Order: sequence, then structure tokens, then C-alpha cells
Amino acid sequence: MNKLFVSLLLTMGVAGAATAAGPIKGDAAAGQAKTAVCGACHNPDGNSLAPNFPKLAGQGEPYLNKQLHDIKDGKRTVPEMTGLLANFNDQDLADIAAYFASQKGSVGAADPKQVERGSALFNGGNLENGLPACTGCHSPNGAGLALAKFPHLSGQHAQYVSKQLTDFREGNRTNDGDAMIMRNIAVKLSNKDIEALSSYIQGLH
Ligand code: HEC
Ligand code: HEC
Repeated sequence: MNKLFVSLLLTMGVAGAATAAGPIKGDAAAGQAKTAVCGACHNPDGNSLAPNFPKLAGQGEPYLNKQLHDIKDGKRTVPEMTGLLANFNDQDLADIAAYFASQKGSVGAADPKQVERGSALFNGGNLENGLPACTGCHSPNGAGLALAKFPHLSGQHAQYVSKQLTDFREGNRTNDGDAMIMRNIAVKLSNKDIEALSSYIQGLH
């Protein structure tokens, strides 16, 4: 075998291995079959009816996949889900993420009294304390940016959103990375800010 051919083979081998190690592709149909146990809280289509259980329908697939890994590995504590993900491998979690991402998310309503304050903070942040606008990452309509793992927020239950912002602020949710993106933002929010933002987000679409 000549040298050129051998190095060509090696290159192809390395390229092939890199592809195999890339992100696992989720299969929505396979995922649906694995979500029977989830429906009790999140509803079978992911549009949960209870305000403390997050809606998963229409959420970005990479974000969902990350949360599932974080919850399974204990980087994010969800007592209600203890043990539920233990028997799922990486492919199962990718499939489940693909399934809920493929569902259409429902929208709720904002409290009219909260819209002015909520909208001002969401779209403009707060110059006084350096709070950035939420739109920079979650986009003006709350759709988020799936590839960047910036979650979709529009239509999410206000009670759940309020709990997340409070958890980030108090350091009870810490899976937002080494840059602590959401923890650094949430410390700039008062309880009244959180109430207004959560209501605004519930009605956003
Ligand atoms: C007993 C109720 C319950 C069951 C069953 C349940 N969950 Fe959850 N799940 C929750 C709660 C409560 C939270 C939010 C916890 C918090 O406040 O941070 C959550 C959060 C999540 C999140 C994070 C959502 C986000 O926006 O960050 C994902 C993803 C998720 N669950 C997926 C699943 C999947 C997949 C299953 C089935 C294998 C499942 N859950 C079963 C109660 C449940
Ligand atoms: C610089 C980008 C950035 C900005 C600006 C930003 N966020 Fe986030 N946000 C993120 C990221 C990234 C996550 C996901 C963290 C993780 O992986 O758990 C997140 C998560 C969240 C969540 C949790 C979603 C869920 O389903 O659990 C809420 C709620 C939220 N952000 C609200 C806000 C609000 C309100 C603002 C404005 C005051 C804001 N964010 C500004 C990047 C940002």
C-alpha cells in the first residue's frame, strides 16, 4: 500500500469517528412511546394543565435534551421526577426531547394589570441596575433560540416561570452554566418584577 493511500484511509477513519461521536439525533415517534409516565404531570402532548408543571410542547429540542440530562444527573433537582429518567439512555432522552419539541405549545393569558411592567422589563431590561432585556436571548415573542439552547418561554405557566426565576435568584437552580447567565440576571429582579414578567410570559406569543 502506498503512503498516500494509508494516510487517506486514516483521515477517513478519523472523520468517520468524529461523525459518530456527534450529537445524537432524536426520533420523535420513538420518543412518544417512551413518555407514557410523563403525561400524568406534563400531559401526553406536553401542554401541562397544572401551573406548577412546565409545558414541554414546542420547547427547543437541544434545551429539552440538556434539561433531561441535567435532571437525570442531579445537576437540576426535580423531586417529582426522582428515578423517572434512570433507565433512559442518551438515545432515549434525545427521542423524548424530539417528541415534545415537535408538539405545538399552547398559550395562556397575562393579567392585564401586569402587562405594562412585564413588557417594559422583558423588552427593555432595567437601565438602573443593568438588567439586560430578555429579548436578547429569548426573542421578542419569547420563541427563544433553539440551537443556542435559549429556551422558548411564550405561553409557559406563570407559576412555573416565577419559581424558576426565584430559584435562579436564590441559587436553588444552578444548571445555567459556568457563566451563570440566568443567576446573574435573576439577582437583579425584585419579587414584583418576577410577578410581572411571569404573567407577561404566560400570555406572550
Ligand atoms: C410527578 C410529576 C412529574 C412527572 C411524572 C414528570 N415530571 Fe417533568 N417536571 C415536573 C416538575 C414539577 C418540573 C419542574 C420542577 C421545577 O420547578 O424546577 C418538571 C420539569 C421537567 C423538565 C424541565 C422543563 C423546563 O422547561 O426546563 C423536563 C424536560 C421534564 N420535566 C421532562 C419530563 C419527562 C420526559 C418525564 C417522563 C419521563 C417527566 N418530566 C415526568 C414534574 C413531573
Ligand atoms: C444572555 C442570554 C439570556 C438573557 C438575556 C436572558 N436569559 Fe433566560 N435563559 C437563558 C439560558 C441560556 C437559559 C437556560 C439555562 C439552562 O440551561 O438551564 C435561560 C432560562 C430561563 C428560564 C427557565 C426556562 C425553563 O423552561 O425552565 C426563564 C424563566 C428565563 N430564562 C427567563 C428570563 C427572563 C425573564 C429574562 C429577562 C429578565 C431572561 N431570561 C434573560 C439565557 C438568557
